[in-house]
Amino acid sequence: MAENTHAHAIVVPFPVQGHIKPSLNLALKLASQGFTITFVTTHFTHQQISQAHKNSTNTNHDMFFQARNSSLDIRHVTVTDTFPLGFDRAGNQDQFWEGMLHVFPAHVDELVDQLMNSSKPRPTCLILDTFYNWGSKIANKFNLVHISFWTQSALSFTLFYHWELLKKNGHFGSPDNRTDVIDYIPGVQEIKPADLISYLQMSDTTTVAHRTCFTAFEDVRKADFILANTIQEFETDTISSIRFHQPFFYPIGPVFLTKSEQQASSALWSESDCEQWLSTKPKGSVLYASFGSYARVTRHDIAEIAYGLMQSEVNFIWVIRDDIVGAHETDFLPTEFINGIKLKDQGLLVSWCSQTEVLSNAAIGGFLTHCGWNSILESVWCEVPLLCFPIMTDQPSNRKLVVDDWRIGVNLSAAEEVSREEVSMKVRNLISGELGNELRVQIQKYKKLMENGIMEGGSSHSNWNKFIHDLQIFKK
Ligand code: UDX
Repeated sequence: MAENTHAHAIVVPFPVQGHIKPSLNLALKLASQGFTITFVTTHFTHQQISQAHKNSTNTNHDMFFQARNSSLDIRHVTVTDTFPLGFDRAGNQDQFWEGMLHVFPAHVDELVDQLMNSSKPRPTCLILDTFYNWGSKIANKFNLVHISFWTQSALSFTLFYHWELLKKNGHFGSPDNRTDVIDYIPGVQEIKPADLISYLQMSDTTTVAHRTCFTAFEDVRKADFILANTIQEFETDTISSIRFHQPFFYPIGPVFLTKSEQQASSALWSESDCEQWLSTKPKGSVLYASFGSYARVTRHDIAEIAYGLMQSEVNFIWVIRDDIVGAHETDFLPTEFINGIKLKDQGLLVSWCSQTEVLSNAAIGGFLTHCGWNSILESVWCEVPLLCFPIMTDQPSNRKLVVDDWRIGVNLSAAEEVSREEVSMKVRNLISGELGNELRVQIQKYKKLMENGIMEGGSSHSNWNKFIHDLQIFKK
């Protein structure tokens, strides 16, 4: 493929872990094809990543180190997210997101203006997370090609895209707790109201999350290109239907890096090394449990999961973020659990780790997950079957794909609240029961589809080449 020596893309990820990581991978992928990249993080994200790496027991280099020492033309700049560094973002989420919605775009506008006047080569395109509902405005102002990057499933994309259809049919906001199946969303055969994205299940449309999502899906219609971190064979009908409305929609996932591209860590928290502990465990004997970077779990559920893990007698690594229950909540793990699991023997508790390294370790046999999209893709890649515990945003819809459509995972709980008995039984079945074996056979098929997709001639590979070609001939 022709190298893009003159293309210069400014990449601005949404400042949460599940978006920064695929955006950085996308940026590196473009840089390895000859693009000049200016990767933009907020001051706060920059500080967090730098701090995380200082305290990490894992030896991976951070992304800024990689950028400085890389042969690729990848530059890193920071911009304010409008709040002082010491502002408690996690504890004041609404205020934070209001700022990101209304004030942050002005800072990005100013930054793009500076880059247009000072960078060589001159920027040619702006790659923004789809949730940035102001993308087309800034791209048009500076005559840049607007590339929207969708980091989640095609199913989630189409549900947001058609939210007015849900409203028209009375399914938006689950009025009267409707349970009848939704069969009118283009490209989605059937979906239950309970499997809709959490924001589509809430009737209060005045929240900042709602306003962000709905206006973002008006703006994405104006994007010149949409790149999606999904795989055509995983969501064939949904993707065909999206392409009917948005012909320049390219499923290029999984946006993981190959060995020839440079690896770089964008971890926001210090990673604990798990390799040594895992090396003492037999193949497939360990459950990995993590609920991603920002979903919260109730005290009740945390305690039941803890007791359930202990009773299962299965080995486990559990990622427990400090804010897993709430920004200022402490002492949520039962004392009996802490004392009872003979730490470092049955279980290893960490506040963050390199998930991809852990999942690819042969000792891992199952993943108890909140169903974040990146976690699902990574688990398929590592052929680790899933135990699903969706909490919010796109996670209920991702659960549907994993359990009902692809059959590579099972539900943790059918009830509102989890119980220790259920956790214990399901974890045992997943790690050493017949169920785990069946899921492993099925997940190998999806791994194969993924592998084929990114190989020369595969769907993601071809879509990527087509995107690069279409971008080269595109005239704004
Ligand atoms: C959020 C939403 O929760 C998710 O539903 C959406 O699809 C993306 O944005 P997050 O909660 O962070 O993401 O979940 P996920 O998408 O799974 O991304 C988490 C990322 O953090 C993964 O790439 C995972 O490898 C990484 N991670 C997680 C670690 O590196 N270490 C950990 O200890 C936990």
